[in-house]
Amino acid sequence: MDVFRAIEPLQGFLAERRQGRPVVLVPTMGALHAGHGACVAVGREVPGALVVCSIFVNPTQFGPGEDFDAYPRTLAADVEHLRAWRCDALFSPSREVMYPEPPRAWVTVDGVSEPLCGRFRPGHFRAVATVVTKLFHIVTPDLAVFGQKDAQQALVVRSLVRQLNMGVGLRLCRTVREPDGLALSSRNGYLTPDERTRAAGLYRALGRARAALEAGERDPAAVERAAMTSLRADGFDRIDYAEVRRADDLCALERVEGRVILAAAAWVGRTRLIDNMVFDVEATGVVADVALF
Ligand code: PAF
Repeated sequence: MDVFRAIEPLQGFLAERRQGRPVVLVPTMGALHAGHGACVAVGREVPGALVVCSIFVNPTQFGPGEDFDAYPRTLAADVEHLRAWRCDALFSPSREVMYPEPPRAWVTVDGVSEPLCGRFRPGHFRAVATVVTKLFHIVTPDLAVFGQKDAQQALVVRSLVRQLNMGVGLRLCRTVREPDGLALSSRNGYLTPDERTRAAGLYRALGRARAALEAGERDPAAVERAAMTSLRADGFDRIDYAEVRRADDLCALERVEGRVILAAAAWVGRTRLIDNMVFDVEATGVVADVALF
């Protein structure tokens, strides 16, 4: 695997090696785990693909007081993982390479950026949309792979690509979980043993919402209550939200039907965790854990 810290050598490599092959980008912030491995595997499955992973802890998407400084940086181990996953190239730019001057041009995606995490992390999705746009311009991928755990991010990127005719295909990768259901995340490393035990409650809360839906509940407030009650019982220190929304555009619902997402964000100690589950709610019943798109 070739490792690039600067843009020009990466673009030289792509020009030489592309030769009609589809380029697949897996954008990450590093501290790679099996969830990222699954995204690389999705790229690897594309016939003839040249798979490029990017690792950049993007400072602009962290708010004041968030964990930018603490965010794990494990480049040597990441390179080993990427080699084992048969990634073709790693783009791992410095802050100076990505932002040689203070950012003054921003990409804003209205609508899907606004609810859920958008309410609690102002400016976050604008920064994500901007850095993803920059990565797309630098790598010019045919396809990009994102994880469904960051469902709102995936919807923001889908809207970005559609709205600005970016011509980049998107694939989503299923959420990879620990045996107790905790979604893999680079932030799980922050958890103390006690917090780690409590963190599994996030997945349990999604399960409670699922059980309510499967029992025929169609009132969004009641489904959300089922998740909230479970989060409170499991000792989360703060709950930002547990909401059910239309999966396509995150619009609020009067009644739970069609393809919906139950998304939640909650804190254990100083760690903010997010998770979600997507459901197909039809007259004939509920299919749980389906793909967002
Ligand atoms: O999901 C992430 O790791 C980041 O938000 C992304 C998409 C790489 C942008 O910095």
